[in-house]
Amino acid sequence: MKIFNLCLLGFGNVGRALARLLVEKSEEMRGQFGIEWRVTGVATRRAGWLTAPEGFSIEELLSGEVTSRAQPQPTNVKEWLAAARCDVLFETTSLEPQTGEPAISHARAALEAGAHVVTANKGTIVHAYRELSELAREKGRRFMFEAAVADCLPIFSLFRETLPAARLSAFGGVLNSTTTVVLEEIAAGRTFGEGVRRAQHLGVAETDPAHDVDGWDAAVKVCALANVLMGASLKLEDVCRRGIRDLKDEEVRAAHAAGRPFKLVARARLNEDGKVAATVRPERVAPEEPFASVTGTTLALHFELDVLPGLTLIEHDPNLKSTAYGLLADFINAVKGEAQSASDL
Ligand SMILES: NC(=O)c1ccc[n+]([C@@H]2O[C@H](COP(=O)([O-])OP(=O)(O)OC[C@H]3O[C@@H](n4cnc5c(N)ncnc54)[C@H](OP(=O)(O)O)[C@@H]3O)[C@@H](O)[C@H]2O)c1
Repeated sequence: MKIFNLCLLGFGNVGRALARLLVEKSEEMRGQFGIEWRVTGVATRRAGWLTAPEGFSIEELLSGEVTSRAQPQPTNVKEWLAAARCDVLFETTSLEPQTGEPAISHARAALEAGAHVVTANKGTIVHAYRELSELAREKGRRFMFEAAVADCLPIFSLFRETLPAARLSAFGGVLNSTTTVVLEEIAAGRTFGEGVRRAQHLGVAETDPAHDVDGWDAAVKVCALANVLMGASLKLEDVCRRGIRDLKDEEVRAAHAAGRPFKLVARARLNEDGKVAATVRPERVAPEEPFASVTGTTLALHFELDVLPGLTLIEHDPNLKSTAYGLLADFINAVKGEAQSASDL
């Protein structure tokens, strides 16, 4: 049975949740798909490029504290991937919305080294979706990113596997839970800062919460979705973006009291000229609209297709395990064929 060498680049909330889920789902992966794994590389900005060619122990992975076995320790991503004999790179470093770096360089290095890439980092799709997908195709590997936009909500796989040739004309989404939480806290009489702290406490805020409240995170997500699902080439500057920072507390409370609370809504629409227009802005949501039931950390997407006027997906209260599952599902889908052919030998 093939044992896949996994490398975790980024070992923060998501990377550690993934390590725990890999351990928890080992039986299912082995029994249902013939997939065996070991984590041979872990890297973070502060800890550097750690490797363990025989695999880090389960105890280390579960505790989130790993110690490198390699001497000398690799000093860059290429050396690290080689030392760890990486089969699959999980890229979960922090989002850098303007350039998508260094996550793009990490993904490129892994594909060039012959590894599959599974990422939760949206920057890679916004800034390099075509390049990385083509490189993956050229190398016979997969570049997968289901966890990047809405944890484990199956969006990309839905269009890839289940809705072939359906044309997407528009979509809208509540894609950022920090802003929903902050607006709800303000509506309940608390301050903006208390709202941000609540989102941080829930573990949903980006490393820098300004990315959430100023609409960058939602803008990155709308670009990612439009570029992959609509064949657009949107960059962040193409999104007409307004965050929630300049909403007045009284406005937020009045809208909530009137039964049409504000939510940060991201939208994209394919216009008649063939161009995709995208916005992110606070909208008041009426009770009959698809996003009316979206509260707290719930995320939702509503699609308009040529074959179906409306399709709404709602992900209720996702957590870190849900994000980790998005990565795990991509991993299984990327390698199950390989694992099967290895067990047939
Ligand atoms: N949290 C969620 O619910 C969620 C959901 C979907 C997608 N995502 C995406 O998943 C990614 C990770 O999120 P998170 O919540 O796990 O963030 P996090 O807790 O802040 O962890 C980020 C990790 O990346 C490492 N890192 C950052 N820059 C690096 C660099 N240049 N080189 C090597 N390592 C680097 C950090 O190392 P240091 O700690 O040493 O700085 C840390 O280990 C982000 O792109 C985020 O947008 C998160």
